[in-house]
Amino acid sequence: MCGIFAYLNYLTPKTRREVLEYLVTGLKRLEYRGYDSAGVAVDSDDGKGITLVKQTGKVKILEDAIKEFMTGHDIDTPISTHCGISHTRWATHGVPSDLNSHPQRSDEENSFVVVHNGIITNYKDVKKFLEKRGYRFESETDTEIIAKLVHHLYLQHPNYSFRELVEQVIQQMEGAFALAFKSKHFPGECVATRRGSPLLVGIKTKTRLATDHIPILYGKDEDNKEKDSATDPEHRPHGAGREVPMIPRTESTSEFQPLEDKEVEYFFASDASAVIEHTNRVIYLEDDDVAAVKDGALSIHRLKKSLDDKHAREIITLKMEIQEIMKGSYEYFMQKEIFEQPESVINTMRGRVNLVNNTVTLGGIKEYIPEIKRCRRLMLIGCGTSYHSAVATRQLLEELTELPVMVELASDFLDRNTPIFRDDVCFFISQSGETADTLMALRYCKQRGALIVGITNTVGSSICRESHCGVHINAGPEIGVASTKAYTSQFISLVMFGLVMSEDRISLQTRRQEILEGLKNLDSQIKEVLKLDLQVLEIAKDLFQQKSLLIMGRGYNFATCMEGALKVKELTYMHCEGIMAGELKHGPLALVDDMMPIVMIVMRDCVYNKTINAIQQVKARGGQPIVICEENDKETMQFAHKVLEVPKTVDCLQGVLTVIPMQLLSYHIAVLRGCNVDCPRNLAKSVTVE
Ligand code: M6R
Repeated sequence: MCGIFAYLNYLTPKTRREVLEYLVTGLKRLEYRGYDSAGVAVDSDDGKGITLVKQTGKVKILEDAIKEFMTGHDIDTPISTHCGISHTRWATHGVPSDLNSHPQRSDEENSFVVVHNGIITNYKDVKKFLEKRGYRFESETDTEIIAKLVHHLYLQHPNYSFRELVEQVIQQMEGAFALAFKSKHFPGECVATRRGSPLLVGIKTKTRLATDHIPILYGKDEDNKEKDSATDPEHRPHGAGREVPMIPRTESTSEFQPLEDKEVEYFFASDASAVIEHTNRVIYLEDDDVAAVKDGALSIHRLKKSLDDKHAREIITLKMEIQEIMKGSYEYFMQKEIFEQPESVINTMRGRVNLVNNTVTLGGIKEYIPEIKRCRRLMLIGCGTSYHSAVATRQLLEELTELPVMVELASDFLDRNTPIFRDDVCFFISQSGETADTLMALRYCKQRGALIVGITNTVGSSICRESHCGVHINAGPEIGVASTKAYTSQFISLVMFGLVMSEDRISLQTRRQEILEGLKNLDSQIKEVLKLDLQVLEIAKDLFQQKSLLIMGRGYNFATCMEGALKVKELTYMHCEGIMAGELKHGPLALVDDMMPIVMIVMRDCVYNKTINAIQQVKARGGQPIVICEENDKETMQFAHKVLEVPKTVDCLQGVLTVIPMQLLSYHIAVLRGCNVDCPRNLAKSVTVE
């Protein structure tokens, strides 16, 4: 979805050419999130105004427009202190167009400009309020009201600081947002804030900072506040049918806590991949934090104290390396991420699975295991691929925990108002940790008193922060919109959880032992599967012009069918269905004839004979299945039109190996069909709207 990148250099001279290069590179790092237009705002030539460059389409088009702008402008004079903001937009209100793209502005003078991720749900009311006061709107976006409201407040309260104005603005906003502001009235300053949409601040200094924490500054105690002119009804936007009072002003700016360093650079971004090449020192902002940089000092403000406030924001050191977000020698991020799986599964298990004494330790949930063991049921909740990882491991978790395990799509779970109890344990599985449906489901369960366990790949993400405890899957950054290595790492994380839960069950020790053996060999077996790449490419050449593809299997491998079908759909725009082989006779068999492309997954597990029945039914209707089976399984191969052989592992881990040919197949079909592999049409990496 949308991406924010802002850069502020304080006493660190940079030319506008350099600043623009930083902004464009920052946007390129956020491209994977999905977008349809982009824009930047920097100081104008005389430093007294703001220049906007905005374009529909890819960042490359914006880059070309910026190059064009550079001719005829003085962009090579170093500026000691400067703030630039930029954005990739995913259209929600209004079509992708230059006007609708961000930064959005307050007026023709570009007095205030803002970039925004999220959706403002009460924008119509605020728009009406502003229109009555003479504001004319030029875009169809919800965001434009933000730029105009801050301008309106500035005119009413010229003595307010930039940060105070933004605080006033966000009190009027309903919905979700991450925002970064720039203003010609506050040169060299940047104010950023978030509610429901991620935002982090990167800090780069020449010497190490004297502190690892930025204290939070709070607004005055409401009871003691003097009434301010801002409470004048004349200056209030009206919410839907009710008045929204303006808040009194908060503490004065003298409370800023400057960092020790004089020369400093700040980066505001939607995610770490945009800042990691500049700094690995970041602060993840919490909902309603207002981060302001003035005179080179960063301060973080909140209007009210809440019970779980931590009083300071920690500056954390990211472990991510720049290489992790570069394609290297691969054509596409997705291809790189598929081939990274031998290492990513090891990283998921690193420091957790001890193969010498057969123990598994999950530090993030260790203290909660006794409580989890006492629970009424386990609920595994997610969307898309993350949901499939729950489907893939459900059977094993039922076996190892001996608890009822419910697997839920987050959106459907919310639609049903599913009953949740205090003694439920709810797992929220999400690569990004920001998926709106999953996050809403988390909050729903938390309100009802359930224990919340997050399974995420993104340190500092909302799901991560809002969970009581959790497991980081440590798969490393996943840039391709199609999830690949996150799936196998989620899968293994859930298997490890099952192993932790069964550690003291005598009757399950043999089973645990075989699973641990399976985990030990998984990386080398994945390497073997990846050697099928050229064979898969040949199959893709046969299939890429087809309209439809059915993928069938059952038991532990049904999840591979669903996940494989999702990959094919999202990457190739081809119709594809994952079919539970046990359901064939109940309908899908009618689709089968000698023209219908079919992939079948046939493993030597406890449903082998039933799956062979299914393959015979398919063959009897003229079907010519491409079979994914175990190495050297000659008996199964005789039913196959084409075969992909994967190494044998323990039944419950086999899905990690069978999904990889499906990832490769969808990738190759997408390339052959000329589709955009890393950014499929209409999709975003992080789905932050419901
Ligand atoms: O970040 P999340 O894991 O919460 O994302 C959930 C889905 O949007 C995601 O898995 C989606 O289905 C993938 N693009 C599939 O490849």
